[in-house]
Amino acid sequence: MDTNVQKRRENKKSLRIKVISLGNAEVGKSCIIKRYCEKRFVPKYLATIGIDYGVTKVQVRDREIKVNIFDMAGHPFFYEVRNEFYKDSQGVILVYDVGLRESFDALDSWLTEMKQEMGSQANMESIIFVVCANKVDLTKRRVVDESEGRLWAESRGFQYFETSAQSGEGISEMFQAFFSSITDMCENGGKRPNPEVSIGFTKEQADTIRRIRSSKDSWDMLGVKPGATREEVNKAYRKLAVLLHPDKCVAPGSEDAFKAVVNARTSLLKNIK
Ligand code: GTP
Ligand code: MG
Repeated sequence: MDTNVQKRRENKKSLRIKVISLGNAEVGKSCIIKRYCEKRFVPKYLATIGIDYGVTKVQVRDREIKVNIFDMAGHPFFYEVRNEFYKDSQGVILVYDVGLRESFDALDSWLTEMKQEMGSQANMESIIFVVCANKVDLTKRRVVDESEGRLWAESRGFQYFETSAQSGEGISEMFQAFFSSITDMCENGGKRPNPEVSIGFTKEQADTIRRIRSSKDSWDMLGVKPGATREEVNKAYRKLAVLLHPDKCVAPGSEDAFKAVVNARTSLLKNIK
């Protein structure tokens, strides 16, 4: 065979990518990577100092992928070291601890830091993000449930995984899906698929579920003023019911949100003449 043709085929088959891990200190970023690469778990906390770097090879379909993993330190102290390493990443593993709400709430600020550091040429559409809801083995201390985490991830077009670096749950599934999506993206000219098309629910549905979750009482949940009339309550209810009915809405948490809206309406109507 012509050596140039052979070389081109080999080039198509091998791929070199860069991935980074992001999330608050102590959520388990290094342990997730260690579980995947070394098949072991270290219970003692050894904070990453600035950044750890490793290389691994994986096979996706007919391609061999050389993966450069940059495992970031989550501690704010290491910001100056970290910020050099955001550029040219094809994949990001976003991690939070299901037992620490602040680590979940911090995901937005991690995305903000990343955008800032990548500068004006930042093209977040050319990066695959996966979200790890980690430490699911510690069920008793869990405070962020699956639908809340899934909604945050999927409404941004990110894949969501429940993981435990301790037991290994979800780890290889997460990495397989992650590397396979990165390969798809590279083969698709470096663009990830449009989330609106692939996730099957709208931003309005996701925002409404989040608003319902954080509402302070039944009036607030239905989005009416305290003292509203039966007609106003029913009108608000019908609008939400159409938006969130489980037959129509596949967004994570829609069923619970729908039930909460039904209960809020029932309790309000009981007290309105
Ligand atoms: P920084 O490097 O400081 O940003 O932290 P990190 O996110 O890399 O956390 P690391 O992987 O070092 O883990 C922090 C602590 O959580 C360690 O004591 C781990 O043993 C523990 N840990 C990590 N993942 C899990 C898990 O899935 N389950 C349990 N039970 N503990 C975990
Ligand atoms: Mg670490």
